[in-house]
Amino acid sequence: MKKIRKAVIPVAGFGTRFLPATKASPKEMMPIVDKPIIQYIVEEAVASGIEDIIFVTGRHKRAITDHFDYAPELEYALKKSGKEEYVNLIREISDMANFVYIRQKEQLGLGHAILMAEHVVGDEPFAVLLGDELIYNETNPGIGQLMEVYAKYGKTVLGTTEVPKEETYKYGIVEGKPIEEGIRLINSLVEKPEPEEAPSTSAIIGRYVLTPKIFKILKRTPLGKGGELQLTDALALLREEEVIYSKDIEGIRHDTGNKIGYIKAIIDFALLREDTKDDVSKIILEKAKEIGQ
Ligand code: UTP
Repeated sequence: MKKIRKAVIPVAGFGTRFLPATKASPKEMMPIVDKPIIQYIVEEAVASGIEDIIFVTGRHKRAITDHFDYAPELEYALKKSGKEEYVNLIREISDMANFVYIRQKEQLGLGHAILMAEHVVGDEPFAVLLGDELIYNETNPGIGQLMEVYAKYGKTVLGTTEVPKEETYKYGIVEGKPIEEGIRLINSLVEKPEPEEAPSTSAIIGRYVLTPKIFKILKRTPLGKGGELQLTDALALLREEEVIYSKDIEGIRHDTGNKIGYIKAIIDFALLREDTKDDVSKIILEKAKEIGQ
């Protein structure tokens, strides 16, 4: 069984739910306190043992490329003004992994974005992380949990969590047979079903371990919801040929792809950090009092 060394991170979407912020800058660069969302995602992959990060990117996404590159002028200016600690902070970002950039010229869906990475991934299993979901687990990073399941079973693994029934229309939903604590053998997958049609409340949450077989399948997957090439549809076809597993990811999950989820993530992370937690608690308590009056 081949070791997983590569992660594909699709970042070519338009981010319409965050317009106007995303008119000219990527939603992945929006900060949670002082760190862009995309950096948390890359750190999760690196902490799980990933060496190569493959971004599938598009127009207006240059800020992501710059963020993971050296910034010599900034480093020089920081050194000159005696702010050495920031020099290391910004340099470490670029040294975390090898970064590769592929352009998705047309936004034809998540499945299409993954397909763009075929020639760089080659004949290896690989991880996929979406920037919409932040998973906080200090000791056992989200994608690493799926990589452990892959190491045991050697097949596709989808990261899942339970969601309220009325929210199934936002997710790819899977139904399967439990085989171990938190691990299921998948029977069926549906992209964004209405609650009454959902086969369960187990939702795919933006973390996958895929095998290279998915590329062949994606090429024959018909366009699905929204006229896009959907990864979930391709996985449903793959399921007809071989077994697929799901793993309930342990950790605190934040859906940063919508406004309320994003605001909640900022508050939660600010309350976890030593340098912000006291002040932010005070602000929240004061606001709560104000609102309560
Ligand atoms: P979303 O469905 O969340 O779309 O894509 P989006 O454009 O990012 O955001 P909204 O819905 O317009 O607000 C899920 C993931 O797939 C990537 C996105 O960048 C995101 O990480 N994606 C989607 C692509 O890379 N290419 C596509 O054609 C579509």
